[in-house]
Amino acid sequence: MHVHPYERLWIRISIVLLAVFGLAIAFSSLTLGIEIPGVERRAAPTGLPADATYHEGWVRELGPGRYEVNLVARMWGFDPAEIRLPKGSTVTFYVHSNDVIHGMKIRNTTVSMMVIPGQTGRATYTFDEPGEYLMVCHEYCGVAHHVMSGKVIIED
Ligand code: CUA
Repeated sequence: MHVHPYERLWIRISIVLLAVFGLAIAFSSLTLGIEIPGVERRAAPTGLPADATYHEGWVRELGPGRYEVNLVARMWGFDPAEIRLPKGSTVTFYVHSNDVIHGMKIRNTTVSMMVIPGQTGRATYTFDEPGEYLMVCHEYCGVAHHVMSGKVIIED
């Protein structure tokens, strides 16, 4: 088979380049400690209460009518998925993601944020009206993004 000299030259250059890139990856992962981040290697979210376990959701009462919610967003749901509180509650939400970028918006409130892995979003809102508030993810996060939702139920 005839290969043009220039073509042969470029084939050789390409092979050398691939070897150089491969060696660069091997060098950086073996000696510089550079690696692809996994979920467990990401920095813990900042801004959470000191004793909070950030990878699971919870609701706790701080005082009369004051609550704190640790909300975890993950593909494709929120933990806790349902939050039940009495009317007039002032709630501070700490929101973080365990995987990719999500959104968190509670309909008919001022709560709306982007949820970025490694960071904690915080928002406070007073629920004066009883009812069911839909909580949705408004950042595209994969094939089941459209079903990622939860609710805040405010009881009279
Ligand atoms: Cu989570 Cu879209």
